[in-house]
Amino acid sequence: MNNDFKSITVTPISPALGAEIGGVDIAAGVTDKQLKELKQAFSDYAVIFFRDQDITPDQHIEFAERWGKINVNRFFQAVETHPKIAEVRKEPHQKANIGADWHTDHSYDQIPAMGSILYAREVPSIGGDTLFSSMYAAYESLSDGLKQTLSNLRAVHSSRHVFGAGAYDARDVEDVGGRLGNTAKATQDAVHPVIIRHPLSARPALYVNADFTVKIAGWSKEESRSLLDYLYQQARQNEFTCRFQWRKGSMAIWDNRATHHCALNDYHGELRLMHRITIEGEALQAFA
Ligand code: SIN
Repeated sequence: MNNDFKSITVTPISPALGAEIGGVDIAAGVTDKQLKELKQAFSDYAVIFFRDQDITPDQHIEFAERWGKINVNRFFQAVETHPKIAEVRKEPHQKANIGADWHTDHSYDQIPAMGSILYAREVPSIGGDTLFSSMYAAYESLSDGLKQTLSNLRAVHSSRHVFGAGAYDARDVEDVGGRLGNTAKATQDAVHPVIIRHPLSARPALYVNADFTVKIAGWSKEESRSLLDYLYQQARQNEFTCRFQWRKGSMAIWDNRATHHCALNDYHGELRLMHRITIEGEALQAFA
């Protein structure tokens, strides 16, 4: 346990990133002192986890609004009664899950989301874990020469090829129908530094991801391919990851600028239903 915290408990779950929080009951109310320490733990560990939270959608929204303005995702099916909450759902008959590939949320936005607050409403009896990886560790693993080269590069990110018309083949459309949609709104493109100065920690972090990064700005897609593939491989090193096993009532808050995540799809035939709220971020600066 990290004893620097007084109003909450913070227990790291892996050397690279991730800490489990104790002493917080979101439904009963989070004090300002607790929130300050939660934000410190979030900055220190890049993803924080809670157990046994019994919250309503309204309480989820109220808690999220204390972290920042809510960014409503345009592609995910929203909770019918609460349009600010996106559903991450997989029904027993469905094959594809959402978020199966390593990625970070909303990098296609000019001002990418700060983080996401994911709450488990229904979980499979086993499986459906989420993996997280540290983009600080990924950066640190690179040679000084490559760090120097990357510090001058920017990358193009887009939502078009993931959420746009033509992104799904006929089989996928049938499977994701009712979960992902609004293909006409997949018009976002953004250019961000490949190495960012993290807005909270000021540390350098790798900021390209396999789902949404299209190419290095000014390079062809073919030229970009080998470099991006190498960076993704670094970003997925086992030692840079942690793994969270969900239970009903668990919550994760991750920093989209410091982590990648991927949702394991190993629970066919069972329901997994998560509620996700995404929080607005700020424009990203290069680490120079
Ligand atoms: C996501 O990619 O945002 C969803 C992660 C998960 O369902 O575990």
